Amino acid sequence: MERLDKFISERTELSRKDVKTALKKGEVRVNGKAVKDPAQKISPENDTVEINGKKLIYKPHTYIMLNKPDGYVCSTRDGLSETVLGLVPDELRVKGLFPAGRLDKDSRGFVFLTDDGALAHRILSPKKHLTKYYLVKLWEEYKTEYEKAFSDGLVIDGDEKCLPAKVSPITHDKKYALVGLCEGKFHQVKIMFQAVGNRVEVLFRVQIGGLPIDGNLAPGECLELLNNDVEKMLSEVGFKDVLKSVEKDFWAYLINNKL
Ligand code: URA
Repeated sequence: MERLDKFISERTELSRKDVKTALKKGEVRVNGKAVKDPAQKISPENDTVEINGKKLIYKPHTYIMLNKPDGYVCSTRDGLSETVLGLVPDELRVKGLFPAGRLDKDSRGFVFLTDDGALAHRILSPKKHLTKYYLVKLWEEYKTEYEKAFSDGLVIDGDEKCLPAKVSPITHDKKYALVGLCEGKFHQVKIMFQAVGNRVEVLFRVQIGGLPIDGNLAPGECLELLNNDVEKMLSEVGFKDVLKSVEKDFWAYLINNKL
C-alpha cells in the first residue's frame, strides 16, 4: 500500500503540494469516488486513480528506446547543451528517468532510458557482460589486424587495459565496422581505433544486448519498451548473428540516420 499523494506525484509532474491542492479541489478520484485525504493508502496494482478524469496507469517502471541524434548530451542536466531527456515526449516522462549508459555528444543511436536503477546497473556493469554494439564509420579503411588487437584487450590512455572486444568489417564498405564491447570507458570506441592507427568519423549504437534499435525510429524519436523487449535486451546473442543482421539492414541504417 502507498500514500495517495506520493503515488500521484511520482507519476505526474505535480509536486506533493500541487497534489494536495488538486485533492482539495476534488480533482482526484479513487475507484470513481472523490478523495480529499493525501494520506489515504491505496494499492497501486488494484486501485484506479484518476486526476481530472485522466487515469494514472500503474507501471512499476518506464523503459524507453531513444534514437539519439548528434548534439545531445546523455545526462539529466547540462548547463550548455540540450540533454536526451528533452527528447522524451511528455507522456513518457516520469520522475527519476535517466539514460542508462552514455553516448558522446556527437555519437548517435540507441540510448536506453529508465527510472529503474537496478536494471540500469545490470546493463552497465562490465561484470554482467552485456554487450553493446556500435556501427562505426572510419576515416581509413578497415584492417584485419584490428581483430586480434581488440580481442587481446587494448591498452588505452597509457595504462588502462580494455576488456576483450569484438570487431569486424562490414562487407558492403571497408570504411564501416561493427564493434561489440561490454564496458563503457570514456570515448572508448574512438580511443580504441586511435590506438590501432585509425579514427572514428561516425559512431552509431545499433544494439544493446539482444535488442537492436528499431529501424523505423527516426533520429530524435523515442519508443516505449515493454517487459519482453527488456528481457530480449538482457539476453545475450552471438557477435556473428548481430553482424549478419547489421549487414542486412546496413543501407537502411545509413539512409535513415544519414551515417
Ligand atoms: N565509445 C565512444 O567512443 N563513444 C561513444 O559515444 C560510445 C562508445
